[in-house]
Amino acid sequence: MNIKIITASVRQGRIGPQISKWVLQSIQEKMNNDVEIIDLKEWYLPLDDEPYLPATGKYLQHHTQQWSQKIASGDLFVFVFPQYNWGYPASLKNAVDHLYAEWNDKVALIVSYANRGGGKAADQFQQIITGLHMHNLSGRIEVKLKDLQFNNEEKLIQPSVDLQGYQNMLYDLICEAELLLNNPNPV
Ligand SMILES: Cc1cc2nc3c(=O)[nH]c(=O)nc-3n(C[C@H](O)[C@H](O)[C@H](O)COP(=O)(O)O)c2cc1C
Repeated sequence: MNIKIITASVRQGRIGPQISKWVLQSIQEKMNNDVEIIDLKEWYLPLDDEPYLPATGKYLQHHTQQWSQKIASGDLFVFVFPQYNWGYPASLKNAVDHLYAEWNDKVALIVSYANRGGGKAADQFQQIITGLHMHNLSGRIEVKLKDLQFNNEEKLIQPSVDLQGYQNMLYDLICEAELLLNNPNPV
């Protein structure tokens, strides 16, 4: 199972990369899967330069073709995103809407974060996952910002006891994803 962690926030001063890094390290500590971070800030994906519907899979721009290849090679996507004004970031919607078939039948794991965990953003994104014909999991991780500690450089301090609960949930959901991918249509 190839795992891709998508860092969705792209604003200057964002904390998203630190949270993605914590997810990456947590996975690498316990699991042997291929895992990488995809930072949306590093992907040039303009809103308006493809003439065909993404569902046709006909991409004229090199950056869209690269994006398509990158997403096609993943099995489980860990979407790491903050809550912005009760929703998820526009950068995330833009990135998913560039493609269609590449997401189909893959598994989505949500890691939202905000003052109270970003549940409203997660609710909204859960609908997008269904629309993309991805598999939802039985739970999701909502990180409350008060549970995280940053030092002066905004670097996440290594997981404290408080974060163990989030990590355990992450491991359970990854195991569930693996089962789902091995047996997508249980009787
Ligand atoms: C545009 C914007 C809107 C926000 N809206 C919410 C919100 O609705 N609820 C909340 O708890 N926090 C909200 N916040 C606080 C963010 O969750 C918090 O700043 C978080 O660090 C943002 O993630 P980022 O640093 O990776 O961009 C908002 C922040 C921004 C920039």
